[in-house]
Amino acid sequence: MATRMSRRDFAKVAALSSVALTGCKRGQPNDALANAALNASAPRGSRAFPRDFFWGVATSAYQIEGAWNEDGKGPSIWDTYAHTAGKISNADTGDVANDHYHRYKEDVALMKDIGATAYRFSISWPRIFPQGTGTPNPKGLDFYSRLVDELKAAGIEPFATLYHWDLPQALQDKGGWQSRDTAQAFADYAGYVAEKLSDRIRHFFTINEFRSFTEAGYKGFEIPAAGGTRTVFLAPGLKLPAQEFHQVCHHAVLAHGLAVQAIRAKGQQGTKIGPAENIEVAVPLIESREHSKAAEALTRELNAPYLTVMLEGRYTDAYLEESGKDAPKFTDEDLKIIASPLDFVGINVYTGKTYVLASDQAPGWREVGFSKGHAKAAISNVPLGPASIYWAPKFVQSLWRAKEIYITENGCAGEDVLADDGQVYDTERIMFLRAYLTQLQRATADGVPVQGYFHWSMMDNFEWIRGYGNRYGMVYVDFKTQERTPKMSAHWFREAAKQNAVV
Ligand code: NOJ
Repeated sequence: MATRMSRRDFAKVAALSSVALTGCKRGQPNDALANAALNASAPRGSRAFPRDFFWGVATSAYQIEGAWNEDGKGPSIWDTYAHTAGKISNADTGDVANDHYHRYKEDVALMKDIGATAYRFSISWPRIFPQGTGTPNPKGLDFYSRLVDELKAAGIEPFATLYHWDLPQALQDKGGWQSRDTAQAFADYAGYVAEKLSDRIRHFFTINEFRSFTEAGYKGFEIPAAGGTRTVFLAPGLKLPAQEFHQVCHHAVLAHGLAVQAIRAKGQQGTKIGPAENIEVAVPLIESREHSKAAEALTRELNAPYLTVMLEGRYTDAYLEESGKDAPKFTDEDLKIIASPLDFVGINVYTGKTYVLASDQAPGWREVGFSKGHAKAAISNVPLGPASIYWAPKFVQSLWRAKEIYITENGCAGEDVLADDGQVYDTERIMFLRAYLTQLQRATADGVPVQGYFHWSMMDNFEWIRGYGNRYGMVYVDFKTQERTPKMSAHWFREAAKQNAVV
């Protein structure tokens, strides 16, 4: 096995940490409470998550699988993009990535070691339909079938995402998401996968981060940079005029709705379906009723072309007015499809979009953004905002009455290095986890129906245009040797999962 730290070593570290915790001085005056808090096996009371909460880890196909042209897989837009000079830092590609396609058994064993009870992975559309439509490739499906069997045998619940951005290149050549036909092709593929795998996969996510792949793929995404902002792209890296861009967004949510219907038609009874969207959440700067209401109203608008239309079946007036003549063209029937009933809502939450205060001027809120010195995650430059993971699910419940919510991604990139003793002391990730999960636990304690958390990512992987430079994993990967080493955050996660509580 290629892991630097064996599973036995890993168990030893976990055991040692509880010895250290329970071994501190006992019986001192007035320290009964302190001892209870330090006793790692004590029930966590107010820091506990609901029973049966899923402690999950997440990845996606292009970012970890490799085997880009094996066993009949067709090329995706990411193969094309990464093979184009100048698009990816360091000229990295996903050709080999984590070689997970060949090492999936080892990776499932690692997930079990770090205490994961659920795994969110994505299915590569061009592995299943090399041309996007037409004849399926049995070897592609077989890979996921074997992966699911391995997960089940390890007691890990599989959650599958059907689209994590690797569109078959053959469909891009016919117009990609600019074409309405892509939405139908996606639904056909989704229905096929559900028919074949829903005997073992109970939860399907249709599409990952509608906002990211449409905005960065078809318009360019503005990100803060020294001296202002800069535009970054994801595959296929187009800069479309506004109307065409809005149409792409419409086709994406339409694809989601058609896929929901196809999965219901072809999947086993009881199959659960929802999106995995990077909700933009406005966070009340001060937690009073009026500021929270203002933040809720802004959150609804911020998500107008994505979650809001999926959950309400209409584009907001403000969105249509703002897009004016460039608004998407759609029918009432489209809206009905887009809003096909869901079983749950999945949200990726890394930070808040902005802080907000109530205002007596229309529209009733005032965005205050982030101050210059606001703390940021070291590598990705994302402002830290633990309260976002409290407010995001809370608003999903209050705005749209969601009955089941999953945090489908949350995490941070770190400057992780292997220390001389072979360990990775990623203290910032542990601080991040503790801060965010404290807020998530607070949401569950308020009765927000969050039923699982998926950490991004299970292991370091191909971080899109940043290549292998941004390490998001709880497991360190040496991309030259493919050695995997659980970081200290993995030990933290294991303990939290064991206690079902923030630790
Ligand atoms: C969102 C995406 O879904 C995932 O692919 C990406 O690696 C992480 N965020 C981190 O940027």
